[in-house]
Amino acid sequence: MSKSFWQDQLQIHEKLCFLAPMDGYGDSAYRQSMKRVAPHVYCISEFYSADGLIHSKFLADSVLPHQTIEDPLIIQIFGKDPEVFAKAAKIISDPKYNIAGIDVNMGCPAKKVVRSGHGSSLLINEQTAFDIVKALDEATHLPISVKTRLSFDGNQDLIAFAQGLQKSGAKLVTIHGRTAKQAYTGNADFTNIYELQKHVDIPVIGNGDVENYDDGMKKAQNLNGFMIGRRSFGNPWAFLGKKHFETDTWKDHVNGFKDGIYYPTLGEMLEAMDFHADKLVATKGEKKGSLEIRKHLVQYIKSFPGVKEYRKRLVTTESYSQTQETILELRQKFSADLLKRPGLGEIE
Ligand SMILES: Cc1cc2nc3c(=O)[nH]c(=O)nc-3n(C[C@H](O)[C@H](O)[C@H](O)COP(=O)(O)O)c2cc1C
Repeated sequence: MSKSFWQDQLQIHEKLCFLAPMDGYGDSAYRQSMKRVAPHVYCISEFYSADGLIHSKFLADSVLPHQTIEDPLIIQIFGKDPEVFAKAAKIISDPKYNIAGIDVNMGCPAKKVVRSGHGSSLLINEQTAFDIVKALDEATHLPISVKTRLSFDGNQDLIAFAQGLQKSGAKLVTIHGRTAKQAYTGNADFTNIYELQKHVDIPVIGNGDVENYDDGMKKAQNLNGFMIGRRSFGNPWAFLGKKHFETDTWKDHVNGFKDGIYYPTLGEMLEAMDFHADKLVATKGEKKGSLEIRKHLVQYIKSFPGVKEYRKRLVTTESYSQTQETILELRQKFSADLLKRPGLGEIE
């Protein structure tokens, strides 16, 4: 990948649509699950410690290898020391991992992260933030991007900060429309993000409370794209919009698409659950995979009838075979309803 990667992508897509980086979610299995349904999505990994990557070969070898379907894959890292970032960049850039870009976390509001000088604390340590981007940009041929927030506590200048990042070599910046102090409270506000795009040349991506693809396209306005996080839980269809249902791949499903939301059939949900569980166990092993899959599967079955009983079983399952049994049981119990859409109330 070259430094002009994002500009090149904007020649292909009118707006860039991203899976937001989410710790505890955005691993290989999650990304594969999203891309299976929505191949146009750019995936950013959950964040990894730059320090961890340089000190543990095991970490690099467990989080950087991925499947072709996830490409182009962006790896997000956090830290505070430019030199450490530069070393981590060298590891990530190894051609054997085929990574497309490196994103720097400058938005995480978690107390522990902020106290140690990582994440959103870089919004108040601007010079360190700029030094990190510069060190990364010099250390790798990959494009560097930054994900941050409107400000730390309302007292910082977003435009000056983003201009500094751009000058240091950042090729794209994503802004979550909340301050770090707000964490996840209140509503995301894109007003200052729209304004920012007028003051920098690099693409600006808007993030926060985007419900689905069409909502993202609407909210993006003058921005170069949008990012969806929480709405993708158990819902890879969040990345599909009106235009996708006009294509050959999706046009037969258009009756499940209402007001920007796709309501999958029961059969599609079960298939997605099977796929996600299979990929998680394949990448993390039976023990870890079958525990981690619990939180994902209950999201997929949010609109299932008789949800309580199955939810309970899925969150307490101890093994992959138990998970598979529950999914199979659902398939058998509702065998006559596999083409129906629970979210549209087609199953009592
Ligand atoms: C469970 C969870 C984990 C997250 N982990 C990260 C992370 O590793 N890196 C990051 O930049 N943001 C992280 N975020 C923030 C999201 O990327 C995103 O900015 C936020 O959820 C707002 O977008 P949304 O309203 O579409 O979810 C996380 C959010 C959630 C809910």
